[in-house]
Amino acid sequence: MASIEQSFKEIMEWVDDRLPVTETYEKHMSKYWAPKNFNIWYIFGVLAFVVLVNQLLTGIWLTMSYVPTGEGAFASVEYIMRDVEYGWMLRYMHSTGASAFFVVVYLHMFRGLLYGSYQKPRELIWVFGMLIYLALMAEGFFGYLLPWGNMSYWGAQVIVSLAGAIPVVGDDLMVWVRGDFNMSGVTLNRFFALHVVLVPIVLLVLVVLHILALHEVGSNNPDGVDIKKHLDENGRPLDGIQFHPYYTIGHDLPAIVLFLFIFCAVMFFYPDGGGYFIEHPNYEPADPLKTPELIAPVWYYTPFYSMLRAATFPLLGMTAKFWGLVVMAGAIAILFVVPWLDRSPVKSMRYKGWGSKISLTLFIISFFILGYLGTVHPTPGRTLLAQICTAIYFGFFLLMPWYTSVEKTKPVPDRVTIK
Ligand code: HEM
Repeated sequence: MASIEQSFKEIMEWVDDRLPVTETYEKHMSKYWAPKNFNIWYIFGVLAFVVLVNQLLTGIWLTMSYVPTGEGAFASVEYIMRDVEYGWMLRYMHSTGASAFFVVVYLHMFRGLLYGSYQKPRELIWVFGMLIYLALMAEGFFGYLLPWGNMSYWGAQVIVSLAGAIPVVGDDLMVWVRGDFNMSGVTLNRFFALHVVLVPIVLLVLVVLHILALHEVGSNNPDGVDIKKHLDENGRPLDGIQFHPYYTIGHDLPAIVLFLFIFCAVMFFYPDGGGYFIEHPNYEPADPLKTPELIAPVWYYTPFYSMLRAATFPLLGMTAKFWGLVVMAGAIAILFVVPWLDRSPVKSMRYKGWGSKISLTLFIISFFILGYLGTVHPTPGRTLLAQICTAIYFGFFLLMPWYTSVEKTKPVPDRVTIK
């Protein structure tokens, strides 16, 4: 036994002299000091990681039987569902995984807003996170075209045609994106390349940068207290514990097990999410002559889709469609600059004032309403509601420098509190 241990030690020493494996493991796992007071909101980072791995693995296996051509795509997905061993499971793991990804990432982002995790010195973590979010939206969009169902076709048609609203270059841009004068097999082929090669690589690189930036400055926590202020005689934070094994085993593992239970329950018993994960028109092949009764994107895009539709009138010589595009792009862009809009002296919502609390609540309610409105036909009443919610959405960000600097905050404790 001793000799096996000895050999292992010698092999590791040999490797470490050439590549710092042990040092990297210690820096990011066993000697990464995480605040003691993490709560349930701190599980979504690791869950995002679990879903990412699920998407990559199931994606690789789906690609083995998928045919990326206009003639073959729909039939190949049917073949995967009916004839490939466990093909149905691979597909449902991937399609349910896409929705799970967004559920987890939205909760992860909400945690950031709740505890001011984007504030100095964590601005870059947030910016990398936002780039991940953008890449994820692109990944979902390209992926949704691949089954070449009727909603794949029309959904992509609507979104790509938005490019046409851009003055001067719009029409050429549309043809450039599609690679054709209409949505066709050429478009499908390039979306496939982007979905399985380019965007996953970008995502992986961004996730690595996200974690490196996090481990450079250390994790925030529900109190927003800097744990590096109180160190013991060995220079270790008094309010920190080793990430591994304490958080990996005691916090993340149970959360992963629970998550997988819920994930499997949805995947096995409710795989199309009642039309929210896989929309009903997608059970029919793409048909350029048959527009679905209601064209709506998958649920995770609908808040932004509602904002796009909320712009209903031309302005300054530009079409309503152009302004819709501006509003939608602005709604995503403004999230990037949150770290510079929040002027509060405290990080966590626990110690912020009523201004921040009420604004965040209104923001979340509006986001949900916008999400719902994006799944139904617009009526004049609904459009008005979407306009009000869009105003609240932007108000949350644009007024942030004001309400975070004038509100009365509570005193922040010196050390972390465990509830
Ligand atoms: C593939 C997607 C993502 C993965 C795998 C991921 C992974 C992680 C992990 C493992 C952590 C540390 C554990 C935790 O705090 O929960 C973390 C922290 C963080 N993430 Fe992400 N993340 C992703 C997307 C995002 C997005 C979209 C944002 C926001 C725009 C974001 C913002 C943050 C912030 C601000 C922290 C620091 C939190 C703190 O210390 O309080 N992440 N991320």
